[in-house]
This record gives sequence, C-alpha cells and structure tokens, in this order.
Amino acid sequence: MAERKYDRLLGIDTVGLREWRARDTEYNRYEATPYRALDRLFQSYRFHPRDRVVDFGCGRGRVAFAIHNRFHVPITGIEAHDKTFAEALRNKPRYRERAHHISAPIRFEFGLAERYEVRPEENRFYFFNPFSKHIFKQVVSNILHSVERNLRPVDIILYYPVPEYKRYLKKRTSFKIVNKIKVPGATDRHDKFLVYRLKPKEHNPKASTPIS
Ligand SMILES: C[S@@+](CC[C@H](N)C(=O)[O-])C[C@H]1O[C@@H](n2cnc3c(N)ncnc32)[C@H](O)[C@@H]1O
Repeated sequence: MAERKYDRLLGIDTVGLREWRARDTEYNRYEATPYRALDRLFQSYRFHPRDRVVDFGCGRGRVAFAIHNRFHVPITGIEAHDKTFAEALRNKPRYRERAHHISAPIRFEFGLAERYEVRPEENRFYFFNPFSKHIFKQVVSNILHSVERNLRPVDIILYYPVPEYKRYLKKRTSFKIVNKIKVPGATDRHDKFLVYRLKPKEHNPKASTPIS
C-alpha cells in the first residue's frame, strides 16, 4: 500500500483512523491527508524558506513531516487528542534520524486549536477538516487578530474543503481563493485543495466576525 510505503520513507507511522469517544463532539476524527494529494499540492504550491507553517489538528503529524521534508521550513502541529498527540511525538525521533540534515524545527503542541495563540511570524495555515465550522471561525478569527497586530500576507490551505468553511471565508473575511488544486484521478469533487490568501491591505477588521 502506497501510504505505508511513504510512511516508511519518512520513518513515521500515520496510517489509520481514530474516532473521538464522544459522539456529539465538534472535533472530527483522525485521518491523514493522502500522500497522493500532498504530492499534487507540492507540485503547485511552494513553501518558501521564510514561511512558518501551522497544521491545525495535525493528527499523527503526516502533513508536518511531509512539508518539513520537502521544503525544510519550520512547522508546528496542534493536536487535541491525547493518544494521537502521543503518536505524533513518537514519530518525531524516528523521522529525525532520517532528516537530521534539515535544521528547521518541527514542533507538536498538545491542545485545542481554538486556544492556540498564533505567533507573529506564522503565515501558512493548513486544515484538513479538523473540527466544526464554529471552531474554524474561532481559529480564523485568531489568525486575523494576529494579522492586525503584525501585518503580513497569510495563506490558508484547505484540503477536502467543506461548504461551511468556504462560505465563512467568502462571506465573512477578505480571504480570496488564489489556487484550486485537484487531486488526479479523484472521483469525489471535494478531493482537492483550496488556497486562500489574505493581503494585509485587503483585511477589513469589521468584516470578520468571530463566532455567530
Ligand atoms: C482529519 S484529521 C487531519 C490530520 C492532519 N492534519 C492531516 O491532514 O494528515 C483532524 C485532526 O484534528 C484533530 N482535532 C479535532 N479537533 C481539534 C481541536 N479542537 N484542536 C486540535 N486538534 C483537533 C483530530 O483529533 C484529528 O487528529
């Protein structure tokens, strides 16, 4: 299976699913972005040496390791499920054995994405449907407040974008879609990436509402 093969190359273990125990949770289950999708993203979208990336709901860390390995940029993964977080941490030393030549840091933080304080240098934000639209709004609002304090262009990358996320970004923020990247061979129309960009001069703080 290709997913396991890629995992082995990186020295990590990220294949599988994990549901949350509570049924009515606003938090979605763990499932990694497929490597074939990441390969496609990396053909069209480049991370640059000065970028600082955050994966909100990083799971076992696949996206963090893959971006770090390919682009050598610092990346932070935030994960709220204790077992899943522990698995991300376990993956790190095994990955590092293979990637010791890459000096950029990889950090994993245990906690809720909606409580994460966005750092002034962070400018690339990745989401693969980690949580409900209410939590997404709160996280985007935190990003926007960070941009107001430290003006900079920022990108949001959505994999498998759901209508609620898209609607919110379109109607309530000044983010604009700058790229749509379809995964080759996909039969599901959601199997794609949308890249949204906010340029500071386009950001109107009054237009963004945190939680409705
Ligand atoms: C669909 S998985 C995506 C994993 C990873 N980003 C990837 O693409 O391979 C979503 C992850 O978000 C985590 N999650 C859900 N709600 C969260 C929250 N409020 N804060 C942090 N992590 C959360 C889940 O436990 C799960 O591991």
